[in-house]
Amino acid sequence: MTKNIAVIKGDGIGPEIVTEAIKVLDRIAEKYGHTFYYEQLLMGGCSIDANGVPLTDETIERCKASDAVLMGSIGGNTSTSPWYKLPPQLRPEAGLLALRKALGLFANLRPCVLFPQLSGACPLKEEISAKGFDMLIMRELTGGLYFGERRTEEINGVITAVDTLKYDENEIRRIAVKAFDVAMKRNKKVTSVDKANVLDTSRLWRKVVEEVAKDYPEVKYEHMLVDNCAMQLVKDPAQFDVMVTENMFGDILSDEASMITGSIGMLASASMNESKFGLYEPSGGSAPDIAGQNKANPIATILSAAMMLRYSFDMTAEADAVEAAVNKVLDAGYRTGDIMSEGMRLVSCSEMGDKIVEFI
Ligand code: IPM
Ligand code: MG
Repeated sequence: MTKNIAVIKGDGIGPEIVTEAIKVLDRIAEKYGHTFYYEQLLMGGCSIDANGVPLTDETIERCKASDAVLMGSIGGNTSTSPWYKLPPQLRPEAGLLALRKALGLFANLRPCVLFPQLSGACPLKEEISAKGFDMLIMRELTGGLYFGERRTEEINGVITAVDTLKYDENEIRRIAVKAFDVAMKRNKKVTSVDKANVLDTSRLWRKVVEEVAKDYPEVKYEHMLVDNCAMQLVKDPAQFDVMVTENMFGDILSDEASMITGSIGMLASASMNESKFGLYEPSGGSAPDIAGQNKANPIATILSAAMMLRYSFDMTAEADAVEAAVNKVLDAGYRTGDIMSEGMRLVSCSEMGDKIVEFI
């Protein structure tokens, strides 16, 4: 098969980790007889430097024309980078949000799995981590507080800021359907997370999820309040299969979930539209403190590329091969700094990529 992949390396560690993912994709192409074409595009801080804006129409158009988008990370140090002196709508993150919206990527899939080889890096008590966990967080990505109207103004001499949290039933239904669909292919359990004891949007969320659940009698589902969910994630993460939640809750809970896998450097993600099109990026940030030092963990990006093979290209064997290679590299004891533990072999970002390629 021939596929056109739009590549946004971005800022910070982005270029390093994406380079490793492309190495892995090239190995897959060679082994399975595919051709992948890559088109490099700018978004985020690098686009501000080159074009004065974090996202150009051209980048949007080229992404739309591609079969999938592979992304690294964007943004810089929010206290020191000149990008954060710009108005909010011109900062790197605004580019990412606008791109998600322009491409209609409303469903963000973040799989959180505790690799048994990394159970030592899991900060939970051993009796909890010993049970392992394998959950998928389905985060709504183009609605809620992130996209509601916002403003800062002075009212009677008092500076006041407003952000609006809004969801309509259609936005909730389509993400709930995605969650139940993917639960059917997993362990058939959905936990819908909300704050229905306080928020109207959450009460609507519950109502719509209940309607959708009727179409999936085989799937067990439950509602959980977000504060309780934050607690359950560290108390008993094994209880979760698919978790579905709104944009902001999903942002926070997915960082929490990533930490109990050992490192955010392990957490892949796929952002999908109604069809098979998606943008694939690690869940972690641009880590400006270690950028350019060949120290970053490329595994989340490599696993995101595997998700691209699986979900956008229907290349199941190829995706399995990448995931198996990651497992073998961990079995063999290779570790980047973030997941290093005693007795293991510390490798650089590029060495980690090379090792994974070797095992494919
Ligand atoms: C994420 C990130 C983004 C988000 C930032 C960079 C805008 O934290 O993908 O989780 O909040 O969605
Ligand atoms: Mg986040």
